[in-house]
Amino acid sequence: MNVQLVKLHQHDELIDIAVKILNDQWPRSKIARLHSLSDSRDDFPCCLLLIAKDNQQKSVVIGHSKLARVHGKSKSLFIENVVIDKGKRGLGFGRKLMELSEDYAHKQGFEDIYLSTHDKCKFYEHLGYCYTCAVSPVRANAKLLTPDQFSALQHHFGGKTDGISKQSLQNDDFAQKDGEDIHLQTIAIAESNHYTDTVIQQMIGTLPAANIEETVHTKLIPPAPPPVPPPPQPRFEKDQSNMRQEIQYWMMKQL
Ligand SMILES: CC(C)(COP(=O)(O)OP(=O)(O)OC[C@H]1O[C@@H](n2cnc3c(N)ncnc32)[C@H](O)[C@@H]1OP(=O)(O)O)[C@@H](O)C(=O)NCCC(=O)NCCS
Repeated sequence: MNVQLVKLHQHDELIDIAVKILNDQWPRSKIARLHSLSDSRDDFPCCLLLIAKDNQQKSVVIGHSKLARVHGKSKSLFIENVVIDKGKRGLGFGRKLMELSEDYAHKQGFEDIYLSTHDKCKFYEHLGYCYTCAVSPVRANAKLLTPDQFSALQHHFGGKTDGISKQSLQNDDFAQKDGEDIHLQTIAIAESNHYTDTVIQQMIGTLPAANIEETVHTKLIPPAPPPVPPPPQPRFEKDQSNMRQEIQYWMMKQL
Protein backbone atom coordinates (compact mmCIF):
# COMPACT_ATOMS: atom_id res chain seq x y z
CA MET A 1 0.00 0.00 0.00
CA ASN A 2 1.24 3.45 -0.89
CA VAL A 3 1.64 5.46 2.32
CA GLN A 4 2.97 8.91 3.11
CA LEU A 5 3.70 11.10 6.10
CA VAL A 6 1.87 14.42 6.52
CA LYS A 7 1.95 17.11 9.18
CA LEU A 8 -1.23 17.19 11.24
CA HIS A 9 -1.35 20.99 11.35
CA GLN A 10 -1.61 21.03 7.56
CA HIS A 11 -4.57 18.61 7.62
CA ASP A 12 -7.15 19.87 10.09
CA GLU A 13 -9.69 17.53 8.52
CA LEU A 14 -7.77 14.54 9.93
CA ILE A 15 -7.62 15.69 13.54
CA ASP A 16 -10.69 13.77 14.73
CA ILE A 17 -9.42 10.45 13.46
CA ALA A 18 -6.00 11.20 14.99
CA VAL A 19 -7.75 11.81 18.33
CA LYS A 20 -9.55 8.49 17.99
CA ILE A 21 -6.42 6.47 17.18
CA LEU A 22 -4.52 8.00 20.10
CA ASN A 23 -7.42 7.72 22.54
CA ASP A 24 -8.10 4.09 21.59
CA GLN A 25 -4.58 3.38 22.84
CA TRP A 26 -4.16 5.95 25.62
CA PRO A 27 -7.63 7.13 26.74
CA ARG A 28 -7.86 10.85 27.55
CA SER A 29 -10.64 13.38 27.28
CA LYS A 30 -11.24 14.54 23.72
CA ILE A 31 -10.66 18.14 24.75
CA ALA A 32 -7.30 17.37 26.35
CA ARG A 33 -6.24 15.37 23.31
CA LEU A 34 -7.35 18.07 20.87
CA HIS A 35 -5.49 20.62 22.94
CA SER A 36 -2.19 18.74 22.75
CA LEU A 37 -2.61 17.92 19.03
CA SER A 38 -3.37 21.54 18.22
CA ASP A 39 0.12 22.46 19.45
CA SER A 40 1.56 20.84 16.33
CA ARG A 41 3.72 23.17 14.26
CA ASP A 42 6.67 23.17 11.88
CA ASP A 43 9.23 24.17 14.50
CA PHE A 44 8.19 21.46 16.99
CA PRO A 45 6.46 19.79 18.59
CA CYS A 46 5.24 18.43 15.27
CA CYS A 47 2.55 15.74 14.98
CA LEU A 48 2.95 13.49 11.95
CA LEU A 49 0.32 11.21 10.45
CA LEU A 50 0.95 8.12 8.35
CA ILE A 51 -1.78 8.11 5.74
CA ALA A 52 -2.87 6.10 2.71
CA LYS A 53 -5.49 6.84 0.03
CA ASP A 54 -8.57 4.64 -0.28
CA ASN A 55 -10.34 3.81 -3.57
CA GLN A 56 -12.05 7.21 -3.60
CA GLN A 57 -8.69 8.93 -3.04
CA LYS A 58 -9.80 9.84 0.48
CA SER A 59 -7.07 9.94 3.15
CA VAL A 60 -7.10 7.08 5.64
CA VAL A 61 -5.07 7.67 8.79
CA ILE A 62 -2.95 4.65 9.75
CA GLY A 63 -0.73 5.98 12.51
CA HIS A 64 0.64 8.94 14.43
CA SER A 65 3.98 10.11 15.83
CA LYS A 66 5.06 13.31 17.49
CA LEU A 67 8.51 14.89 17.22
CA ALA A 68 9.72 17.32 19.86
CA ARG A 69 13.00 19.06 20.58
CA VAL A 70 15.24 17.84 23.41
CA HIS A 71 16.46 20.02 26.28
CA GLY A 72 20.15 20.78 25.91
CA LYS A 73 20.55 18.87 22.61
CA SER A 74 20.02 21.13 19.64
CA LYS A 75 20.70 18.40 17.07
CA SER A 76 18.30 15.86 18.56
CA LEU A 77 14.59 15.18 18.41
CA PHE A 78 12.39 13.11 20.70
CA ILE A 79 9.72 10.83 19.20
CA GLU A 80 6.63 9.97 21.23
CA ASN A 81 2.98 8.96 20.92
CA VAL A 82 3.98 6.43 18.27
CA VAL A 83 0.83 4.48 17.48
CA ILE A 84 -0.68 2.47 14.65
CA ASP A 85 -4.46 2.14 14.35
CA LYS A 86 -5.46 -1.01 16.23
CA GLY A 87 -6.82 -2.85 13.18
CA LYS A 88 -3.68 -2.22 11.13
CA ARG A 89 -0.90 -3.45 13.39
CA GLY A 90 1.52 -6.21 12.48
CA LEU A 91 1.50 -5.25 8.78
CA GLY A 92 4.70 -3.24 8.63
CA PHE A 93 3.12 0.18 9.19
CA GLY A 94 4.88 0.73 12.53
CA ARG A 95 8.25 0.31 10.84
CA LYS A 96 7.15 2.60 8.00
CA LEU A 97 5.94 5.28 10.44
CA MET A 98 9.25 5.21 12.31
CA GLU A 99 11.36 5.22 9.14
CA LEU A 100 9.46 8.13 7.59
CA SER A 101 9.55 10.08 10.89
CA GLU A 102 13.32 9.51 11.10
CA ASP A 103 13.72 10.54 7.47
CA TYR A 104 11.73 13.71 8.16
CA ALA A 105 13.95 14.53 11.15
CA HIS A 106 17.11 13.86 9.16
CA LYS A 107 15.98 16.14 6.34
CA GLN A 108 15.39 18.89 8.91
CA GLY A 109 19.06 18.59 9.90
CA PHE A 110 18.75 16.59 13.12
CA GLU A 111 21.36 13.95 13.91
CA ASP A 112 19.62 11.61 16.31
CA ILE A 113 16.26 10.64 17.74
CA TYR A 114 15.50 9.78 21.36
CA LEU A 115 12.48 8.04 22.82
CA SER A 116 11.27 6.40 25.99
CA THR A 117 9.23 3.24 26.34
CA HIS A 118 8.32 0.77 29.03
CA ASP A 119 7.18 -2.20 26.95
CA LYS A 120 8.26 -1.74 23.33
CA CYS A 121 12.03 -2.01 23.72
CA LYS A 122 12.22 -5.04 21.44
CA PHE A 123 10.34 -3.26 18.67
CA TYR A 124 12.66 -0.26 18.84
CA GLU A 125 15.79 -2.42 19.17
CA HIS A 126 14.65 -4.21 16.04
CA LEU A 127 14.55 -0.82 14.28
CA GLY A 128 18.10 0.06 15.35
CA TYR A 129 17.58 1.94 18.61
CA CYS A 130 19.99 1.40 21.50
CA TYR A 131 19.70 2.11 25.21
CA THR A 132 20.80 5.46 26.55
CA CYS A 133 20.31 7.75 29.52
CA ALA A 134 17.23 9.88 30.14
CA VAL A 135 16.61 13.09 28.19
CA SER A 136 13.84 15.61 28.51
CA PRO A 137 11.60 16.59 25.58
CA VAL A 138 10.72 20.24 25.18
CA ARG A 139 6.99 20.67 25.74
CA ALA A 140 4.82 22.92 23.59
CA ASN A 141 4.36 25.53 26.32
CA ALA A 142 8.10 25.78 27.00
CA LYS A 143 9.72 29.17 26.48
CA LEU A 144 12.51 29.61 23.96
CA LEU A 145 14.64 32.58 25.01
CA THR A 146 17.50 34.26 23.21
CA PRO A 147 20.90 34.48 24.96
CA ASP A 148 20.16 38.13 25.85
CA GLN A 149 16.87 37.17 27.39
CA PHE A 150 18.62 34.34 29.20
CA SER A 151 21.22 36.75 30.59
CA ALA A 152 18.46 39.06 31.79
CA LEU A 153 16.82 36.15 33.55
CA GLN A 154 20.12 35.12 35.13
CA HIS A 155 20.86 38.67 36.17
CA HIS A 156 17.61 39.02 38.04
CA PHE A 157 17.96 35.70 39.79
CA GLY A 158 21.77 35.57 39.99
CA GLY A 159 22.97 34.54 43.44
CA LYS A 160 19.44 34.07 44.65
CA THR A 161 18.68 30.65 43.26
CA ASP A 162 21.34 27.96 42.80
CA GLY A 163 19.26 26.22 40.17
CA ILE A 164 19.79 28.87 37.52
CA SER A 165 23.54 29.23 37.72
CA LYS A 166 24.15 25.47 38.03
CA GLN A 167 22.00 24.56 35.07
CA SER A 168 23.35 27.30 32.88
CA LEU A 169 26.91 26.14 33.49
CA GLN A 170 26.16 22.51 32.84
CA ASN A 171 24.13 22.94 29.68
CA ASP A 172 25.46 25.57 27.38
CA ASP A 173 23.61 24.55 24.27
CA PHE A 174 22.33 26.81 21.54
CA ALA A 175 20.10 26.17 18.55
CA GLN A 176 19.37 28.19 15.44
CA LYS A 177 15.85 29.37 14.81
CA ASP A 178 15.06 31.97 12.19
CA GLY A 179 18.70 33.03 12.23
CA GLU A 180 18.65 33.73 15.95
CA ASP A 181 20.50 31.83 18.66
CA ILE A 182 18.22 30.21 21.17
CA HIS A 183 19.32 28.91 24.50
CA LEU A 184 17.48 25.64 24.86
CA GLN A 185 18.42 25.08 28.48
CA THR A 186 16.62 28.24 29.47
CA ILE A 187 13.40 26.39 28.89
CA ALA A 188 14.37 23.81 31.46
CA ILE A 189 15.29 26.51 33.91
CA ALA A 190 12.04 28.37 33.45
CA GLU A 191 10.07 25.15 33.76
CA SER A 192 11.95 23.71 36.70
CA ASN A 193 11.54 26.86 38.71
CA HIS A 194 7.85 27.17 37.85
CA TYR A 195 8.05 30.73 36.60
CA THR A 196 4.88 31.90 34.96
CA ASP A 197 4.71 33.41 31.48
CA THR A 198 4.26 36.83 33.03
CA VAL A 199 7.33 36.55 35.19
CA ILE A 200 9.46 35.41 32.26
CA GLN A 201 8.15 38.27 30.14
CA GLN A 202 9.02 40.70 32.90
CA MET A 203 12.48 39.18 33.12
CA ILE A 204 13.09 39.79 29.45
CA GLY A 205 11.82 43.31 29.52
CA THR A 206 8.54 43.14 27.62
CA LEU A 207 6.68 44.52 30.63
CA PRO A 208 7.51 47.65 32.66
CA ALA A 209 10.75 47.24 34.61
CA ALA A 210 9.21 48.73 37.72
CA ASN A 211 7.27 45.56 38.32
CA ILE A 212 10.20 43.22 38.05
CA GLU A 213 11.71 43.29 41.53
CA GLU A 214 8.33 43.02 43.17
CA THR A 215 7.42 40.01 41.05
CA VAL A 216 10.76 38.33 41.65
CA HIS A 217 10.36 38.66 45.38
CA THR A 218 6.84 37.37 45.26
CA LYS A 219 7.92 34.37 43.25
CA LEU A 220 10.89 33.64 45.48
CA ILE A 221 8.71 33.04 48.50
CA PRO A 222 8.99 29.28 49.03
CA PRO A 223 5.87 27.37 47.94
CA ALA A 224 3.63 25.74 50.54
CA PRO A 225 4.90 22.29 51.58
CA PRO A 226 3.35 19.38 49.66
CA PRO A 227 0.50 17.49 51.34
CA VAL A 228 1.48 14.60 53.59
CA PRO A 229 1.55 11.43 51.44
CA PRO A 230 -0.93 8.66 52.31
CA PRO A 231 0.44 5.76 54.39
CA PRO A 232 2.00 2.95 52.31
CA GLN A 233 -0.46 0.29 51.15
CA PRO A 234 0.33 -3.42 51.47
CA ARG A 235 1.84 -4.71 48.22
CA PHE A 236 0.28 -7.67 46.49
CA GLU A 237 1.87 -9.79 43.80
CA LYS A 238 -0.32 -8.20 41.09
CA ASP A 239 0.64 -4.64 42.06
CA GLN A 240 4.34 -5.49 41.97
CA SER A 241 4.11 -6.95 38.47
CA ASN A 242 2.33 -3.78 37.31
CA MET A 243 5.11 -1.71 38.80
CA ARG A 244 7.73 -3.72 36.92
CA GLN A 245 5.95 -3.01 33.63
CA GLU A 246 6.13 0.71 34.26
CA ILE A 247 9.94 0.90 34.30
CA GLN A 248 10.90 3.49 31.71
CA TYR A 249 13.70 2.78 29.22
CA TRP A 250 15.40 5.47 27.17
CA MET A 251 16.64 4.69 23.70
CA MET A 252 18.25 6.58 20.83
CA LYS A 253 19.26 6.15 17.21
CA GLN A 254 21.72 8.10 15.11
CA LEU A 255 20.21 9.21 11.83
C1 LIG B 1 4.36 -0.59 18.50
C2 LIG B 1 3.60 -0.42 17.20
C3 LIG B 1 3.70 1.03 16.76
C4 LIG B 1 4.24 -1.32 16.15
O1 LIG B 1 3.54 -1.14 14.93
P1 LIG B 1 3.22 -2.38 13.99
O2 LIG B 1 2.62 -1.85 12.75
O3 LIG B 1 2.43 -3.38 14.74
O4 LIG B 1 4.69 -2.95 13.72
P2 LIG B 1 5.25 -3.52 12.33
O5 LIG B 1 4.28 -4.51 11.77
O6 LIG B 1 5.62 -2.41 11.44
O7 LIG B 1 6.55 -4.24 12.82
C5 LIG B 1 7.82 -3.80 12.38
C6 LIG B 1 8.85 -4.79 12.82
O8 LIG B 1 8.92 -4.77 14.24
C7 LIG B 1 8.65 -6.07 14.75
N1 LIG B 1 7.84 -5.88 15.95
C8 LIG B 1 6.64 -5.30 16.02
N2 LIG B 1 6.23 -5.26 17.28
C9 LIG B 1 7.20 -5.83 18.01
C10 LIG B 1 7.37 -6.10 19.38
N3 LIG B 1 6.45 -5.75 20.30
N4 LIG B 1 8.53 -6.70 19.78
C11 LIG B 1 9.47 -7.04 18.88
N5 LIG B 1 9.36 -6.81 17.57
C12 LIG B 1 8.24 -6.22 17.15
C13 LIG B 1 7.91 -6.81 13.66
O9 LIG B 1 8.13 -8.19 13.74
C14 LIG B 1 8.48 -6.22 12.41
O10 LIG B 1 9.67 -6.84 12.07
P3 LIG B 1 10.13 -6.92 10.50
O11 LIG B 1 9.95 -5.55 9.91
O12 LIG B 1 11.56 -7.31 10.57
O13 LIG B 1 9.24 -7.93 9.87
C15 LIG B 1 2.11 -0.83 17.33
O14 LIG B 1 2.06 -2.15 17.78
C16 LIG B 1 1.31 0.04 18.27
O15 LIG B 1 0.73 1.04 17.85
N6 LIG B 1 1.26 -0.33 19.56
C17 LIG B 1 0.48 0.42 20.56
C18 LIG B 1 1.08 1.76 20.87
C19 LIG B 1 2.47 1.63 21.45
O16 LIG B 1 2.72 0.80 22.32
N7 LIG B 1 3.38 2.49 20.96
C20 LIG B 1 4.72 2.54 21.43
C21 LIG B 1 4.82 3.53 22.52
S1 LIG B 1 6.49 3.58 23.16
